[in-house]
Amino acid sequence: LAIDFQSEPVRVVVTGAAGQIAYSLLYMVAKGDVFGPNQPVILHLLDIPPMMGVVQGVVMELSDCALPLLRGVVPTADPDVAFKDVDAAFLVGAMPRKEGMERKDLLAANVGIFKVQGQAIERNAKRTIKVLVVGNPANTNALVCSKYAPSIPKENFTAMTRLDQNRATAHIAERLNVSCADVSNVIIWGNHSSTQFPDVRHANATVNGAKVSVSEAIKDDEYLKTQFVEKIQKRGAAVIAARKLSSAMSAAKAASDHMKDWWQGSANWVSMGVISDGSYGVPADVVFSFPVICSDKKWTIVQGLEIDEYARGKLDITAKELIEEREEALAVCQDSNL
Ligand code: NAD
Ligand code: LMR
Repeated sequence: LAIDFQSEPVRVVVTGAAGQIAYSLLYMVAKGDVFGPNQPVILHLLDIPPMMGVVQGVVMELSDCALPLLRGVVPTADPDVAFKDVDAAFLVGAMPRKEGMERKDLLAANVGIFKVQGQAIERNAKRTIKVLVVGNPANTNALVCSKYAPSIPKENFTAMTRLDQNRATAHIAERLNVSCADVSNVIIWGNHSSTQFPDVRHANATVNGAKVSVSEAIKDDEYLKTQFVEKIQKRGAAVIAARKLSSAMSAAKAASDHMKDWWQGSANWVSMGVISDGSYGVPADVVFSFPVICSDKKWTIVQGLEIDEYARGKLDITAKELIEEREEALAVCQDSNL
């Protein structure tokens, strides 16, 4: 298939463009992993003024990659320039946590960024913009961003739990000694935090050519309900302890997967933090990770899954945390004069 040079490029903003995640993500976007192998892109790179020198280096490297789909790069420290006419936004720029912190400890430091960027989206972006929030605490930042861009549909703001889904899928695949491609329908419910509920009760795996449920294949429900859940909940902290930096390559891959499925359609269920409509008894007005299917550039929550007493307990804990985060975030936004 030839690249269609006549087709209009999509404008994509990546914030935190001088940071770790962006360094992997920009390459994935510019080479066609996200918007398709024939879709030209123009990249808008936003960071703060002191990082503009570093951003210039990233611009040089993007040029030196000689990528046929990359039709332009706009480096800037001005949110109004960054969000002008953009079709898709990866909101990565925010402080990462250090060892010993929970992601919600970043709330006071980071939430103001998403208020300002919500306002810039409201003023500048296309009404169809698709926003993926990566910066932590991602669910609550996405909610705040959407509240400050009231004319854009709430469905257009999502938060990343795909890294948790990928972690859980890879973990199950390793345990069963199969490829990640042989494991499907792993779900992440709730917050991208240590209260998230990684759920394999509806997941399947292809083992020795036969499709079976993951519970049947692993034959250890106690393990799946306890150690497995904790392992995924704490995986981000384990990476920080080992790397002394938070995950970046895997976070960029997850961001690419999330936006690709939203833009191009998903083959299986995928988990995305989306505005709750009350499905599965989850309170409204929080950004909660649900299993969704994407088609026609829209996500739809997968309905009708059984929620037993064990799952109910897990969903309620993570929903409660999101309500608490929302209240704290809105108070911070009201206090700040941004
Ligand atoms: P990093 O420190 O390497 O990069 C962050 C960049 O954001 C820096 O260049 C910084 O200057 C920039 N920045 C700060 N304020 C900004 C603003 N107002 N506008 C634009 N840019 C701004 O961090 P990183 O490792 O790339 O991580 C970025 C964020 O992503 C962190 O909050 C981290 O916790 C989060 N994260 C989320 C997930 C997830 O699964 N949702 C996974 C990994 C990391
Ligand atoms: C992750 O899940 O790796 C990121 O959210 C970074 C972190 O703070 O754990």
